[in-house]
Amino acid sequence: MRVAIILAAGQGTRMKSAMPKVMHKLAGRPMINHLIAAAEPVFDRIIVVAGPGMPELERAVAPHASVIQAERLGTGHAARMAAPLLEGFAGDAAVLYGDNPLITTATLERLVAARSDADLALLAMRPGDPAKYGRVVQDATGAVTRIVEWADASEEERAIGLCNAGVVCAAWTDLSRWLSGLGNANRQGEYYLTDVVAAAHGEGRRVQAVEAPEAELRGINSRVELATAEAEVQARLREAAMLSGATLVQPASVTLSWDTKLGRDVVVDPNVVFAPGVTVEDEVAIRAFSHLEQCVVRRGAIIGPYARLRPATEVGEGAHVGNFVELKAAHLGAGAKANHLTYLGDVTVGAAANIGAGTITCNYDGVNKHRTEIGAGAFIGSDTALVAPVRVGARAITAAGSVVTEDVPEDSLAIARGRQVNKPGRGVKGK
Ligand code: UD1
Ligand code: MG
Repeated sequence: MRVAIILAAGQGTRMKSAMPKVMHKLAGRPMINHLIAAAEPVFDRIIVVAGPGMPELERAVAPHASVIQAERLGTGHAARMAAPLLEGFAGDAAVLYGDNPLITTATLERLVAARSDADLALLAMRPGDPAKYGRVVQDATGAVTRIVEWADASEEERAIGLCNAGVVCAAWTDLSRWLSGLGNANRQGEYYLTDVVAAAHGEGRRVQAVEAPEAELRGINSRVELATAEAEVQARLREAAMLSGATLVQPASVTLSWDTKLGRDVVVDPNVVFAPGVTVEDEVAIRAFSHLEQCVVRRGAIIGPYARLRPATEVGEGAHVGNFVELKAAHLGAGAKANHLTYLGDVTVGAAANIGAGTITCNYDGVNKHRTEIGAGAFIGSDTALVAPVRVGARAITAAGSVVTEDVPEDSLAIARGRQVNKPGRGVKGK
């Protein structure tokens, strides 16, 4: 049995935000949920230490348990908050930092494996710029003796390249004893989790540092660091998408979400954004500058360029959605086409229907939303306004420029526009 305690009570002052730091998103998902996803395969139980007044954090981590650290007295104090939930627990416990969300499952597995050879295992890195990370101090034999926080370190200690990533793992019986022995006589007046290393060493226990790449162990304290982490997450997602059979013509220009699903032989042109909740089936083409969110695109469809797919949309097999077309809660049947300058909201479009340029569903009357139904094989003439609720039957036609306020029976033609009047001699010259 193994437990992970994730520290996330800090407000994250350096983010300058009303939102708790760990709720800031990477690839469309709060950073804490990235960390939880990496930890779940390795730990049987996860306990998150939240701050007071962070209900959104507690909701985001559910069904995992949260405990509250009422006063922010340091990382060591925060870890202690999990103790009431772990009375009598005899397994291993790891402490992770919520602002360290890029750690992979493989690295956490190396950490717990190292813990079976040592009494305390910790993750360390050698960052290009060690900045203000805590430094891992070793003795002449290479044994880890303690971690010194940047604020408390001497010039000599600040020159150490090996930095603390903030993850430790030990038997809970040991860790909880070391945590209760912590003091706060340091520069920041905080109970440092990092001091458990010196406590272990003081008992003559073996401490082992497991090194991993900086790209995984980087902490996020500011929005500048958030952007660096976003770049790392995007790089991983793009690589995974390409390895599973999607072509990204210009990968760096495509923004993916943590849950984006791209099928085989999907081709994504430059400058496409996938917000959360998008599934794209095989052989779909997504052309430049399209934005997709919470939608399903069925096999062989063509989207864009410049298309916007909003939530609850489904584009059927082989359907076409062209430039400057916005879909919201729209279901397009197989082979349907809406190729130019159109808004389709709260609508069902039957198979092979053709939606002319400039078609608008007038779905909102200022108070309520209403539905439009367009039957299979219907032909909606250019610049038709469909005033919902309204139905256009299968194979019906609406004349260009119509304002359709009444249902159109199947197989009929609706013309709903003013008749043209030509006045001879009243052209430019006759004014
Ligand atoms: C910490 C480490 C440092 C390490 C760095 C790696 C300590 C004392 N220092 O510094 O050695 O190099 O992480 O990123 O641990 N938190 C609480 N309650 C508190 C204080 C913090 O829950 O009272 C949480 C924060 O929400 C955050 C995490 O603990 O998720 C780490 O705290 P942070 O203030 O970011 O520590 P660093 O200064 O980055
Ligand atoms: Mg930090």
